Amino acid sequence: MKFVGFLSGLTAASIWGGMYVVSDVVLKTILNPGEEVINCVPTFGIFRFSTLLCGGKIIEVPRDNDFAVSAAAIKAVITKKTKVIFLVSPNNPTGTQIPKAEILQILETGLPVVIDEAYIEFSGMPGHAGWVLEHGNLIVLRTFSKRGGLAGLRVGYGIFPSALMPHLWKIKQPYNVSVAASAAAIASLADSEHMAEVVKRLVAERNRMAEALSELSFIKVYPSNSNFVLCRVIGRDAKELKLKLEERGILVRYFNKPGLTDCIRISAGKPEHTDELTSVLRNMLRDQNSPRRRKER
Ligand SMILES: Cc1ncc(COP(=O)(O)O)c(C=O)c1O
Repeated sequence: MKFVGFLSGLTAASIWGGMYVVSDVVLKTILNPGEEVINCVPTFGIFRFSTLLCGGKIIEVPRDNDFAVSAAAIKAVITKKTKVIFLVSPNNPTGTQIPKAEILQILETGLPVVIDEAYIEFSGMPGHAGWVLEHGNLIVLRTFSKRGGLAGLRVGYGIFPSALMPHLWKIKQPYNVSVAASAAAIASLADSEHMAEVVKRLVAERNRMAEALSELSFIKVYPSNSNFVLCRVIGRDAKELKLKLEERGILVRYFNKPGLTDCIRISAGKPEHTDELTSVLRNMLRDQNSPRRRKER
């Protein structure tokens, strides 16, 4: 399905199955077995998965302690075999955004650069779709999953340099957006004012939640440009905390992998969700500090 770009004023983009399908087609088109793909970790896992399925080699560039991406660190691992650089901005699960100056430096390598902007609407920034016209090596991926609330229906799209399009069409499978998903995407486009209002409310709630969480001594909140916040749990067991929240009907994502040890990611919801979360966490802190608990220890 071709459509007129509704966000960026671009004239041509292409809607396919979920964003994963779009990135998979890009990799199948560009990558040969044994060639390298640069990925800045910790990040969304799907690009690693797709690269390995294509027989490629994933080259991981660690983000720094604040989860920032460094163009210099990326340039340092480029070899003759490097075929694609993946950037996720805002990043999942850290919420970090990559500054434009850094992205420009990465584009100057001349290698194909794919920016996943699944969460761009929550960043308050316009994103990089418009840059595709000026940078023949840039691909921007977006999805209806977050802004449109259509997660699970798998409607993603890409904004590609026009020279790449004929090659992508050769690889893309037909029929990968269902009728139900197309109908939902069209309805969401027709109601973009409401969608924008929901984004505005989620951003306000994310900020309120981040502020409330940062008042708790056992939680370090990372700044977020997305619809969730990443927190590091300090001096307590993060998995136990996740399970305790689960008992109260609050579901958060727990991570314990390199760069993300003792971390939980909490999605912004309605004000009452934030209130319940912060009240449960404050009670935990109160219990921990109660004279009886201190005596028991
Ligand atoms: C960074 C990122 N990109 C892409 C996606 C998935 O997009 P879609 O639902 O269109 O496959 C997600 C889903 O969580 C994500 O976090």
